[in-house]
Amino acid sequence: MFEMVLYGKVAFRGRILTGSIGVEKGRIARIALGELKGEETLRLPRGQVLLPGLVDVHVHLRDFEQANKETIESGTKAALHGGITVVFDMPNTKPPVMDARTFRMRELLFRGKSYADYAIGFLVSRNCGEAKSVNADFYKVFMGASTGGIFSEDFEGDYSCAPGVVSVHAEDAEIIGKNPQRPPEAEIRAIEKALNAAEKLRKPLNICHVSTAGGIRAVLEKALPWVSFEVTPHHLFLTKEDFEKNPLLKVYPPLRGERDRRALWENLSRIPIIASDHAPHTLEDKGAGAAGIPGLETEVALLLDAVNRGLMSLHDIVEKMHSNPIRIFNIMNKGFDVGRDADFTVVDLRREWVVKPEEFYTKAKWSPWEGRKLRGKVVKTFIRGELLMEEDDIFGKPAGRRVEVAAKG
Ligand code: DOR
Ligand code: ZN
Ligand code: ZN
Repeated sequence: MFEMVLYGKVAFRGRILTGSIGVEKGRIARIALGELKGEETLRLPRGQVLLPGLVDVHVHLRDFEQANKETIESGTKAALHGGITVVFDMPNTKPPVMDARTFRMRELLFRGKSYADYAIGFLVSRNCGEAKSVNADFYKVFMGASTGGIFSEDFEGDYSCAPGVVSVHAEDAEIIGKNPQRPPEAEIRAIEKALNAAEKLRKPLNICHVSTAGGIRAVLEKALPWVSFEVTPHHLFLTKEDFEKNPLLKVYPPLRGERDRRALWENLSRIPIIASDHAPHTLEDKGAGAAGIPGLETEVALLLDAVNRGLMSLHDIVEKMHSNPIRIFNIMNKGFDVGRDADFTVVDLRREWVVKPEEFYTKAKWSPWEGRKLRGKVVKTFIRGELLMEEDDIFGKPAGRRVEVAAKG
């Protein structure tokens, strides 16, 4: 007899089975075909499928001095609403998380405020001493200036000194200095530099938001096993023609042409991670030229809609937003296995809904997909066996925890 049993359609190892998850003390105690006995049993209604808890490795939660754009509370509620159980917090905050004291403040800020589980990032730019003194869950390097303005002038040095997985924003500082349009070459050049460093250093590197055909080709051709990369939903679903019609779609790296967008889809099976790069700004700041697109509450639904259109499978979503992120970032307490946290994202592929950003939890009250009808919706989110979101409502207190990252060799 399990404390709790979830019964219904389950996406498990590439197949959709009818089965049960037995939950004990917030962890997966058993995964079985057929129905297990529980003190409490939750049967998923027809049409709903249970996925393992989805992870977003690229989220800007702001807070600190930019709490008007987003807070830990609003951003992690948005995460649960969008079916995200773990968020990776980006350190380009104000002040930036790039010294031990600010890192400690960030840790304290998350405690008791986060609705989702989280990983805390640390910004590296000529601060190796500080980078080594903190125990961050991952490290971030900006190769060219972005929101916050801090970037690395010695990528190789900063990457080599970070004591963990490094995520890099790869846009070449020199090229974007000369050309503020940030052409594809800015990304391709930076990715080539990053790959050369990775080839030499043989340390885990994750390239954020790859958006160009040339960029993805460069990464795939080098095929370094310790290099991974992310693609965003906005680069998968939007192009620069959309941006020309809607200036709110300004983002770094920018939306690209149709040829680049298609190259991402053609390489879908080789994309390790899909992450939102949720970058909320107030509409006022957007009007003044801030770059960034909010994505937490639309990303999974957009992918479900793509599943319905035959562009990808549910298994692709699980691989790119659960299995691969957990493996690449060495998260020990997550994964769809006995003993791991009982985190689940329940989706309804048939449900149609219209994107209404005014009903979202993020403070960014706009979305590129406003007014769009999507087929496929996240209907429930569980963390450690607790139902925290159901049908747009969020329950309970903020009980998010920091993920457990394996000690770095
Ligand atoms: O468009 C962007 N917005 N690109 C980034 O790299 C940073 C992000 C932000 O923090 O606003
Ligand atoms: Zn970035
Ligand atoms: Zn970002």
